[in-house]
Amino acid sequence: MKHLLTMEELGIEEIEALLDRAAAFKHQETVSLPEPKYAVNMFFEASTRTHHSFEMAEQKLGMREISFDPGHSSITKGETLYDTLLTMQAIGVDVAVIRHFEEKYYEPLRKLDISIINGGDGCGEHPSQCLLDLFTIREQFGTFKGLKVAIMGDISHSRVAHSNMKALHRLGAEVCFGGPIEWLDETAKEYGPHLSTEECIQTADVIMLLRVQHERHDSPTGFSKETYHRKYGLTTDLAKTMKPNAIIMHPSPVNRDTEIAGELVEAKQSRIVEQMTNGVFIRMAILAMVLKEKETRVKACTF
Ligand code: CP
Repeated sequence: MKHLLTMEELGIEEIEALLDRAAAFKHQETVSLPEPKYAVNMFFEASTRTHHSFEMAEQKLGMREISFDPGHSSITKGETLYDTLLTMQAIGVDVAVIRHFEEKYYEPLRKLDISIINGGDGCGEHPSQCLLDLFTIREQFGTFKGLKVAIMGDISHSRVAHSNMKALHRLGAEVCFGGPIEWLDETAKEYGPHLSTEECIQTADVIMLLRVQHERHDSPTGFSKETYHRKYGLTTDLAKTMKPNAIIMHPSPVNRDTEIAGELVEAKQSRIVEQMTNGVFIRMAILAMVLKEKETRVKACTF
C-alpha cells in the first residue's frame, strides 16, 4: 500500500496487520533500514501529537527528516500542494505526512510516487488516530466484536469520529453517539443511534470523548464551558456510573472540565495518555507499511 489516506481503503486484514506490527514495535521490535529513507512532515494546521509522534516514529525507524515550514515554503508564492509534493518527490523524499485544512486535499496527490500519509484532512478523516485508537481498544479488550463504543461530542466536525465510526462498525463494534444532537451529521446517523449523555456513559465499554472544535463552527456554539460540561461532559459523578471495566478515551487535545472533568484525564479508567504513547508505535507500523521496507529485523523481546 503506497498511501494511507482513509480508513476505508484499508482491508480488515491490513488493519489487523498494522495493529500486530504496532504491538511488535511496542514490545521492542527494532528495524534497520537497508538504505536511508526520508520523511517530510507538512502540517498546515496546528498539531502536537500527530506531528511529534510521527517525528518520533521516523527517528525510531532510523529515517531522516526533511524540515518543512508552510509559512516559509513556496506555497506562500502561489505554488500548489501538488507541485510542492512533486518537488519533494523529485529531491528524493520517500514519505510525506500531511495535515491540511481542506477535506480530501490528497485526491490530486494519489498519482505521485511519494507516499502520502494523511495526518488529518479538515473534518474528513484521521486514519493514524483511528488506528492508534483501535490499537488501544484491542489492547484492553482483545477484540472489537460486541463492544459498545460511545463517541461523544462535536461529531460533525471531527475527523476522528468519522474514521472511527466506520472502522469500528466494520470490525464488529456497536457504535452510539452522544453530545448535542444538532452536531450529529448524516454520516453518523448511518452508523448508530444518538443517546443521552447518561445512557452513553452507563452502557458503553468505551467512552470516546471529543473536543468542541470551536475553530470549525461558523458562529459561537452558545454553550458556556460549565453548561457543556454539565449537559454533555463526563463529570466525576457520571464517571461513577460507568461499567466496571469501561475505559475513557479522547484523541486530545483535551479541554479539561469541558468534555471531561480535569481529574478524570489521568484516572485509572482513562487510556488518554496510553493513546499518545501508542501513537508512536502505530505510526512506526504505518511508515514501515508504506515504505515496504525490507529491513533486517532484530527481535529484542523482553518477555
Ligand atoms: N489527536 C490529534 O490529532 O492531536 P494533535 O492535533 O495534537 O495532532
